[in-house]
Amino acid sequence: MNVAMKYRLRCVHCGKEFSPEPELYTCPDCKDRLGTLEVIYSFSSKTQWIRPENPGIWRYADLLPIREDPLPPHLYVGNTPLIRSEKIERELGIQELWIKDDGKNPTASFKDRASVVAIAKAIEYGYTDIFAASTGNAASSLAGLCAPAGLKAHIYLPATAPEAKIAQLLIYGAEVFAVQGSYDQAFDLSLKEGFQKDWYCRNSAINPYLLEGKKTGTFELIQDLKMHAPDLILVGVGDGTVYSSIHKAVAELFQLNLIDRIPIIVGVQGENANAIRRAFSNGEPYLPADIENATCLADSISVGKPRDVIKACQWAKKHDGFFLTVSDEEIGVSISALARKSGVFAEPAGAIAYAGLKQLKDEGHLNAKARVALMITGNGLKDVRAAKPYLTEKVTPVSVKGIRGA
Ligand SMILES: Cc1ncc(COP(=O)(O)O)c(C=O)c1O
Ligand SMILES: [Zn+2]
Repeated sequence: MNVAMKYRLRCVHCGKEFSPEPELYTCPDCKDRLGTLEVIYSFSSKTQWIRPENPGIWRYADLLPIREDPLPPHLYVGNTPLIRSEKIERELGIQELWIKDDGKNPTASFKDRASVVAIAKAIEYGYTDIFAASTGNAASSLAGLCAPAGLKAHIYLPATAPEAKIAQLLIYGAEVFAVQGSYDQAFDLSLKEGFQKDWYCRNSAINPYLLEGKKTGTFELIQDLKMHAPDLILVGVGDGTVYSSIHKAVAELFQLNLIDRIPIIVGVQGENANAIRRAFSNGEPYLPADIENATCLADSISVGKPRDVIKACQWAKKHDGFFLTVSDEEIGVSISALARKSGVFAEPAGAIAYAGLKQLKDEGHLNAKARVALMITGNGLKDVRAAKPYLTEKVTPVSVKGIRGA
C-alpha cells in the first residue's frame, strides 16, 4: 500500500484531518501545543499485527506510518527484555510484576523507538539533516541512530544535561548546541533555527510520528505477555508522548480484537515538574498548565511546558488513566531499591515508575490479584550522579602499603 494511503493525520484540538506531507507537523489552524496531530490508520482485513519476517520493530510495520517497500534501515531498536520480579511481587503483595527494560536499547533509552521512525520519515522525505531539542535521551538516541543511517543530527539541549548523555552526542558525531537555559527554552530555540535551516524536525509532539515508534514498547510488552494485557502500566511523564503512546498502542490492539480490555495507565511526574497532572486535574477542555521553573531529580522529565499535554490528558480521560507525583527523595531511593530487587539499574525517569507504584501500594490502591508492568525508559548509567546522594553505602579505601611491589 502507498504510505500516504495508509494513514491520515488528525488534529487533537479541532478534529480536522490531513493527508501526510513532509512539512506538515502540527495543525495549521491550532498550531503546536493545542494542535498536535495524531496518526489515524485505515485498518483493513489485510492488516497484520505482526509481520514476523520483518527485522526488529518493523515487524509491527502495518501499525506504523512507514513505507514498507523498501523497509527503512534496520537499526536494532527494540526487542528489549521483559523481566519478572518475584521480590517486588512479594514486597507489594501483588500477583505479577513485569519490568520492560528499555534501557537495553542501542543508545540505552526508550527514545530509540521514536528516533528510528523519525529517521525513516526523514529518509522517505529526502532529508539529510535532522534536528531535535531534548532533555538528553531523544538527542543521544537521534545522534546514535543517525550515524549508521548516514544522516546528520543537530541537537539542542540544556547545558546542564548529564555528562554521559552529552558524551554520547559527541561520540556519535552530532552537532551539539548546549543551551544556557531550560529544556523548554532549548525547544523553542531549536524550532526557530531548525526550520530556518530546512532540517527535518524530531521534536516531541511537533513530529507526529515519534509517538508511533514509541507504541512498539507496549506492543512488545503485550506480545511477550501472550496478549494478556496487565491491569496497570506505570511510566514516567515529561512531555507526555510516551504516556500517550501506551494508550494508543493498547487502543489499536483493542480495535483489532487482539486484547480484551484496556489497562489502567498511570503517568508519574516529579512534584515540581507536574504540569500534565495539573492540566488533567483542571479538567476539560484540557489546556496547558505550565510551570515557570520546573525541577526534578529525573532530568529527562524536568519539563515545565509539556508539548503533548493535550493528547496525554485526552487519552487519560478516555481510558480512565491518571497521573500522580512523587518527590525527588522517593525517586532517588527507588533507583537502588529497583536495582537490588530486580537487577535493573534505571535512570531516575525510569525508576520513577517504581516510586509511583510504591505510592499506590502505600495508599492502599493495589489488590493481591494485580498484574502490573513498569516501563523502565532509560539506563542508570546515563546519570549516575543523581543516584549517589541516596546511597548509604560508601566505598572503603584500602591502602596497598606493604604489598609486594607497591
Ligand atoms: C528516560 C525517559 N523516561 C521518560 C521520558 C518521558 O517521555 P515524554 O517526554 O514523552 O513524556 C523521557 C523523555 O525524555 C525519558 O528520557
Ligand atoms: Zn486543529
